[in-house]
Amino acid sequence: MAEPVQTPAAFPPRIFSGIQPSGGITLGNYLGALKRFVEKQNEGIETIYCLVDMHAITVWQDPQKLRHATREGAAAFIAAGLDPARSILFNQSQVSAHVELGWIFNCVARLGWMNRMTQFKDKAGKNAEAASLGLYAYPALMAADIMAYHATHVPVGEDQKQHLELTRDIAIKFNHDYGVNFFPIVEPVIEGAATRVMSLRDGSKKMSKSDPSDQSRINLTDDADTIAAKIRKAKTDADPLPETLDGLKDRPEARNLVNIYAALAGTTPAQVVAEHAGAQFGSFKPKLADLAVAHLSPITTQMTRLMQDPAEIDRILGEGADRAEAIARPILDQVYDITGMIRSRR
Ligand code: AMP
Ligand code: TRP
Repeated sequence: MAEPVQTPAAFPPRIFSGIQPSGGITLGNYLGALKRFVEKQNEGIETIYCLVDMHAITVWQDPQKLRHATREGAAAFIAAGLDPARSILFNQSQVSAHVELGWIFNCVARLGWMNRMTQFKDKAGKNAEAASLGLYAYPALMAADIMAYHATHVPVGEDQKQHLELTRDIAIKFNHDYGVNFFPIVEPVIEGAATRVMSLRDGSKKMSKSDPSDQSRINLTDDADTIAAKIRKAKTDADPLPETLDGLKDRPEARNLVNIYAALAGTTPAQVVAEHAGAQFGSFKPKLADLAVAHLSPITTQMTRLMQDPAEIDRILGEGADRAEAIARPILDQVYDITGMIRSRR
């Protein structure tokens, strides 16, 4: 019978992150997550990326659309430069270790902690009584996604910071309660000019797949004309661009377009305002549109091509799941040993 195994204090660097296939991928997902996932892969760190279909169903998903969005999400990853040979790319439901560890973490996380989660409050809205239990427990499953791989670093957008703090709390409490040093304390990686891309219609709301207005976001599937039109119509103010970022303090819509420009151009918002100081939005927006189209069009074209062969995408996801499972299963076996579950079949 296996005895509890304690891993050493130092965990080798390993990156994990996920995106929900609950709709199309937006420019926010691309700049805040996908583009950065690819950069991490290219830094030579072990990278594991997941389409979190189990998270997506915490709110109703039409099964056909969920399947489509999962494949399209995988196509977006690959089109954005993710190499399935170097990174592990899979969909969450194919590796059952996630939900198994998720249950154990449901028993570690405290109700008081869950009650502080702002994303639940935002998503459940006024009618929280009608929200699913899964939506409430969702951050514990997210912690399991990460901890099933002993991942040490998680690149995400700003909105996920609180969930990663909860992941740390769960790891600390598990280690403490069972007297082990088994789970690493994860580091959020929230970097770059576009960690929070805002809606094109309302500078106080984040750009989101679930916004009822399609005008509020750029989708990776939008064609060049649609992207240009959405940027042209984006809400701004009447003032020209200032010389320094201080001048954008109370101008969230203007700041958002500057951030997007910087992220796409690979510069900083400070450099963008320095270069475009005094420009009106009438001239800045077409430049931003050109930049966005030049950057996104090749990705959109490649996504469309990949989507013509869904069987190949499924094959890649299956292969990724096999590789993911090979890492997660031994970790989960140790969790069962640590927590006192009898494991006599293997
Ligand atoms: P989701 O669409 O909620 O599954 O988000 C997947 C990833 O994209 C997470 O790392 C989010 O933080 C990131 N993300 C989502 N929306 C935005 C946004 N508007 N700006 C920056 N990052 C975002
Ligand atoms: N909660 C994340 C979001 O809504 C998606 C997600 C699920 C995730 N599991 C994860 C992100 C693990 C990073 C790591 O955006």
